[in-house]
Amino acid sequence: METQQGAIQQVSMQDLDTLANTAADVLAQVRDAMIEPHPRKVAPTFSSAAIADLCNVNKTQIKYLTQKHDLPAGQKQEGSKAKEYSLQDAITWVNAIAKRPSRPNGTDGKVLSVCNYKGGVAKTSTTVALAQALTLRGLNVLVVDCDGQGTATQLLGISPEQDVEIEQTIMPYIHGDMPDLHYAVQATYWQNLSIIPASSGLLAAEFAIPAKAMSQRGFRFWEMLKAGLQPLRQDFDLILIDTSPSLSHLTVNAMIAADGLLMPCPPDALDFASSVQFWGIFSELVEGLPDAKSKRYDFISIIYTKVQANEISRLVKTWMKQAYGAHINGIEIPDSTAARTASAQLKTIYDLSKPDGSAEAYRRYKDPLDRLADYVLDQLAIAWSKA
Ligand SMILES: Nc1ncnc2c1ncn2[C@@H]1O[C@H](COP(=O)(O)OP(=O)(O)OP(=O)(O)O)[C@@H](O)[C@H]1O
Ligand SMILES: [Mg+2]
Repeated sequence: METQQGAIQQVSMQDLDTLANTAADVLAQVRDAMIEPHPRKVAPTFSSAAIADLCNVNKTQIKYLTQKHDLPAGQKQEGSKAKEYSLQDAITWVNAIAKRPSRPNGTDGKVLSVCNYKGGVAKTSTTVALAQALTLRGLNVLVVDCDGQGTATQLLGISPEQDVEIEQTIMPYIHGDMPDLHYAVQATYWQNLSIIPASSGLLAAEFAIPAKAMSQRGFRFWEMLKAGLQPLRQDFDLILIDTSPSLSHLTVNAMIAADGLLMPCPPDALDFASSVQFWGIFSELVEGLPDAKSKRYDFISIIYTKVQANEISRLVKTWMKQAYGAHINGIEIPDSTAARTASAQLKTIYDLSKPDGSAEAYRRYKDPLDRLADYVLDQLAIAWSKA
């Protein structure tokens, strides 16, 4: 490969191979440095104020409630009177004290897909943050990574290229080697949050699914994920599917498997235009699938993400409100340095025990995510009450 500046470069397939290998080596080193001790992440700790917040009680009640309900008392910090609670402690507290809706006995868990065929609109950040926030509201959550990029897998502490064998992804089920997706569920470093991981091997699904549809007459190729996830609904209150930036066979499967859809969309003219196209193509696609037309969603919500405080974004929000009406749930996640700082360390905001930088920026980003978790929990409670 000619590297002289200004010269026209020709790149052979061998150069490309070298480039891919060098880049993979560099990324592996960066990951090793970031996720110490390799490869596991650690869950955050919680202050008494954070526990009180999660349980909707006053901080002054913590001592009394600890004794009354025999709850975890937290660890004293050296040189300070402050207590520190583990994630397990926090979940124990929430389950005992917070009066939040939960899945009635005998009712199936719900499936939510996060989708938008535009790339980089915060699908994965939203999926993982929402999953974490909902475990802190007492739910048992499964994230299904249906994107070969494996970003959700990575954020949940598993390196898609280093730690994930193709047998651990949805692929054996897609190939028909497994009866359902139970085999692929893995625990993560975060209590009550499991994952079905992804790796780049998921790209093969885009060939395997149509091949199966061609070879088996009447095969309902759009309902594969739905069928594979069905038995898991007893084990999980919520199954959250992260999709790739495309309307691929897997994305369509994720949308058909879902009881609810969440679309993160920045209020930007091009992102808005692309979202309109997305709904158009999806609805046309569904029209062509036998029986899919009768499908009902519990809810479809569009969330403003990466919102910038400027005139253009205010204008596009008015168009989006006109276009999507009640499907705009009013939650605005700002474009935030706190989001960028967290993801530069392969973390979400919920992985941080305390603000990493400005406390104000941390709160401005985390508050709307908390409200999104409350909103989703309310939607689930409504759907469970009708089940
Ligand atoms: N609120 C935010 N403010 C600033 N940056 C953000 C915010 N949310 C996400 N990002 C950044 O935007 C980038 C894309 O986010 P993310 O991976 O969640 O999007 P995505 O829609 O899943 O992307 P893809 O389409 O590639 O799957 C990441 O670098 C992330 O850190
Ligand atoms: Mg993503």
